[in-house]
Amino acid sequence: MNAKAAGKSLRDIDVADLSEDDAKTELAALAAAIAAADTAYHQNDAPEITDGDYDALRRRNDALEARFPGLVRADSPSQRVGAAPAGGFAKITHRVPMLSLGNVFNEEELADFIAGIRRFLRELSDESIAIELVAEPKIDGLSVSLRYEKGVFVSGATRGDGAVGEDITANLKTIKDVPQKLTGDVPDVLEVRGEVYLPKGEFRALNERQADAGEKIFANPRNAAAGSLRQLDASVTARRPLRLFAYAWGEVSERTSETQKGFLERLEGWGFPVNPRIRVCAGLEALMQAYNDLGSARASLDYDIDGMVYKVNRIDWQERLGFVSRAPRWAVAHKYPAEKAETILKEIGIQVGRTGVLTPFAILEPVTVGGVVVSRATLHNEDEIARKDFRAGDTVIIQRAGDVIPQVVEALMERRPANAKPFAMPETCPDCGSPAVRHEGEVARRCTNRLTCPAQAVEGIIHFASRGCFDIEGLGEKHIDTFYKEGLLKTPADIFRLKDHEAALREREGWGDKSVDNLLRNIEVRRTIPLERFIGALGIPQVGEATAKLLARHYLTFAALRAAMVAAKVIGSEAYQDLNDINGIGSSMADDIVEFFADEHNAKQLDDLETQLRIEPFLPPQVVASSISGKTVVFTGTLETVSRNEAKARAEALGAKVAGSVSKKTDYLVIGADAGSKAKKAAELGVTTLTEEEWLKMIGDM
Ligand code: IVH
Repeated sequence: MNAKAAGKSLRDIDVADLSEDDAKTELAALAAAIAAADTAYHQNDAPEITDGDYDALRRRNDALEARFPGLVRADSPSQRVGAAPAGGFAKITHRVPMLSLGNVFNEEELADFIAGIRRFLRELSDESIAIELVAEPKIDGLSVSLRYEKGVFVSGATRGDGAVGEDITANLKTIKDVPQKLTGDVPDVLEVRGEVYLPKGEFRALNERQADAGEKIFANPRNAAAGSLRQLDASVTARRPLRLFAYAWGEVSERTSETQKGFLERLEGWGFPVNPRIRVCAGLEALMQAYNDLGSARASLDYDIDGMVYKVNRIDWQERLGFVSRAPRWAVAHKYPAEKAETILKEIGIQVGRTGVLTPFAILEPVTVGGVVVSRATLHNEDEIARKDFRAGDTVIIQRAGDVIPQVVEALMERRPANAKPFAMPETCPDCGSPAVRHEGEVARRCTNRLTCPAQAVEGIIHFASRGCFDIEGLGEKHIDTFYKEGLLKTPADIFRLKDHEAALREREGWGDKSVDNLLRNIEVRRTIPLERFIGALGIPQVGEATAKLLARHYLTFAALRAAMVAAKVIGSEAYQDLNDINGIGSSMADDIVEFFADEHNAKQLDDLETQLRIEPFLPPQVVASSISGKTVVFTGTLETVSRNEAKARAEALGAKVAGSVSKKTDYLVIGADAGSKAKKAAELGVTTLTEEEWLKMIGDM
């Protein structure tokens, strides 16, 4: 029976409980309601519903689409690439996320990367089977995603945070390398990814024109390309000779090739520029050769590169290898060595982070390294400073590799001023004056005043509001710092009470009514927050985005997570074991998580936050009718056809949870050769056991 027949309004039913049919009806209704609200707001300037209700509709639409990706409508509000809202670009949600790459810096690390592939894809453990990799120059520009429907360019976006980018369609249309219409046999839907860059010669010419006109000088071609592409006025972009190299795909309606190399050839056939220095290599030696050859040619190229990208050529292998967190297992970037420069270390400063760690950093005489002006660099920790004996006044060598924070490598002793004094780490917090203590076995010294140290509080709120967390646009570091000093913000929950200070905000100098309106609106939008983002925002030591997602996927609701963490306080309890069993969470991380929730001060802040927010339960992505979705599976012993890691990844892709040990909650134990105690435990607990063959049959892989 559908919901209507049961006499209930669809709008009142949780997204998680809607059937596919009802979801379809609801998505149509949402598209109509949101379009009507948009017209009332933008065209007629006469809103008919509150901002809060409007955002609730949008979020419901997003959640439904996330759950049923097959039901996304062409006229869905999420697909609309309409006019940019005042002050910025419209957002485009990438149908297939735009990921980043892991890095290797030398031959040994590259060999490890290949060995990892051989371990993951079991049949490749036989070293006589060659793995072909495609070596491509890593273009140092801006990645973009170009969407074609029936061969016609319909929209284009920046990478953004990988999930949501900015709609720069109009700007991309001005680039002559971006084909407006594709030639030949093209899939109905084709998203092409590539790098937009400004040729070095054009960069120099642009800077000369800028200087003549008394305008801003760009530090390097990449910044110039970014500044040119993200122009609200596309006619400015049109005057900058930007170029494109295409190299990857996003959403495609059909498989276009069996290999990466074949795909690149198809790209050329459709009319995209592909880098001419791409090579197919059969092993480590050939890859290193390609890397060194490109390195020698680097200076003479008319575009900046920062390394080489190696991609497994066979696309079926790419698919099996899949991703870890945000980087593929089938590709890696091999960076060129860091660029170095000499300068003066003026002073050693101390920064206090959100967990109270005091981090020393170098304040430098500004110097240009690889096209970027550097005035600060990391010094890691006090031991490193002592080991290298860095002192204020020293002449130092600094280096910078890619996007990595610049580092101080060494001090030139022969140039040390006679009066330079050894550095001593402060024993009190430079911000609040409380004792800063270094516990045995730890490298870091921490401010002991966790409750009221301003630096810790401010850093915590900055993290909470930052892009990967609550992503509150308009609430930047400077504002948080000032609001903290003025007493408007003391804890993250206070952000949601800022509207009570609306009058005070409006009176601030330099703040127009519009910025206040925008800020308060952006805050209201975030009152509803997906569980994984909420967990990430808490700033639990060691818990980043990937771990937050693991926790969300395992516990599903915040209430369940909190209850489990309180129960896990008892070492050896079932809840503690359960947490430690999550694939990807180690014991030191587990201890930090438990400790965070056990802390009374944190508990109070969580209670407070819960009164302000609606934390959305984690919605497991709908997986194609799988017999194992939601089931807990444990693997033991050596499997024959696939590696244990590939088996785990496959189970997770089908919606199962993979655990490390057998308990009452285990649904299946898959037993390979030479299995040990787990099989015995499963027998005791009456857990269903499967042979590898039975398992493969069950998931339809045999
Ligand atoms: S492939 C999942 N190929 O490097 C694979 N990326 O550090 C995703 N880049 O965000 C990327 N040249 O902006 C790929 N030939 C190339 C590339 C390339 C430059 C950039 C790209 C990506 C970043 C990752």
